[in-house]
Amino acid sequence: MRRLIMCLAVLICSAAAARAAAPDSIWLTVDGSGYRLLKSIQPDVRALAIRRSPLSPGRVLDVDADTRYVVAASRQLRDRLAQAVHQQRGHCGGFMAFDDERSALTALNPVPLAVVPTRPDYSITEQARVLPLLGEVSASRIGSDIQSLSAFHNRYYDASYGADAADAVFNQWQSLAAGRSDIHVEKVFRSSNGVPLDLMPSVRLTIDGSLLPQQRLVLGAHLDSINHRDRDGLPVAAARAPGADDNASGVASLTEVLRVLLAHDFHPHRQLEFIAYSGEEVGLLGSHFIAADYASRQLDVVGVLQLDMTDYQGSAADIVLIDDYTDATQNAFLASLATTYLPHLLVAHSQCGYACSDHFAWNQRGYAASFPFEAKMGEDNPEIHSSRDTWATLGNQATHAQKFSRLALAWMVELSADADDVIFANGLETVSATLAVRPRR
Ligand code: BES
Ligand code: ZN
Repeated sequence: MRRLIMCLAVLICSAAAARAAAPDSIWLTVDGSGYRLLKSIQPDVRALAIRRSPLSPGRVLDVDADTRYVVAASRQLRDRLAQAVHQQRGHCGGFMAFDDERSALTALNPVPLAVVPTRPDYSITEQARVLPLLGEVSASRIGSDIQSLSAFHNRYYDASYGADAADAVFNQWQSLAAGRSDIHVEKVFRSSNGVPLDLMPSVRLTIDGSLLPQQRLVLGAHLDSINHRDRDGLPVAAARAPGADDNASGVASLTEVLRVLLAHDFHPHRQLEFIAYSGEEVGLLGSHFIAADYASRQLDVVGVLQLDMTDYQGSAADIVLIDDYTDATQNAFLASLATTYLPHLLVAHSQCGYACSDHFAWNQRGYAASFPFEAKMGEDNPEIHSSRDTWATLGNQATHAQKFSRLALAWMVELSADADDVIFANGLETVSATLAVRPRR
């Protein structure tokens, strides 16, 4: 078992460039230990701004983790930082990357949502719908998606291979949605003045909500991959990075949820969104862009679930709920869903200790995000970010990932309507369930 080394807490953001930047200029936010590391790589690095984060009640100040710095950097320095973090501290560690200085400075003082997102009814009421669907979740289909995605040379966010992988997911989701005019599939590029910033877009599929169309659920997984560890001097965009577990597994788990719902002609009350993010591995780029967009439009996202690494069972536990930078109420709901629908599985809790995946981008904006993970921290797949993160390393199976599809499916179906949603002939109202005049979905 690997020892988990305490990671540098780095927050990741990126936003549409408010000000045009020189092609190679970016801005990073790092914490105290990240700043020291940056200085050791490039001694003349200087902080443009420093901020001490407000402490939540009862937490003791950790000067390194609770102080954040903004620095101007090149993309090359960003990549060297990522590599140094991985070499010195194990696989984890991050930084927030921004395309303009203003966004980086704003990230030190994120503007809270002006609206409070709707809290859904977390009672478990949909057994009749969920149970039959759980039996339809197929490990072999998840496995074949993991294999197809990991066959791309890499899925780096700024390589043509990454763009090809996004095309493949876009096409696959479009064919799954064929014939449904209430489903839309699109590519979401980060852009500055209309010019795409990266070769690889995020991919988003939306199923319109019939009754509560302005309330959304977001099921996400990052599509990009990276090799920090055995590149043999190749540029990162050219290195082999199969990313079978990190994170073909999450995208494949998510696609299986979609496939099962669509095979059963599922029509939700709330809007459902399935998102394959770009750029997670270099600073949560895609998720931050989308979460910032939704927050600036004050969109009502009632729940977010992140699937990142679902197919390596390194712990006795089956599903590990990440407790930091996630929503405790929704996490408790996930634990109850597992007890109800997956009673043979063992659920445990763990922490990343830093902004380790896309749930953070949503959490930071005030949305309720959760992150069910494959293992306890430090017992997860040791081969990620290398050419050895393959289907073979996963033991040529997707039965572990299947558990996460089932949990995500139960989460989505249960939250896609509230028990007291009622349709009246004269319009829409919400009253007690006994007055329902037509089937809920
Ligand atoms: N899947 C990982 C995050 C992860 C790894 C979580 C191991 C738990 C255990 C994710 O793709 C990743 O690599 N995240 C980056 C952070 C990012 C901000 C650059 C990381 O951990 O370095
Ligand atoms: Zn990763």
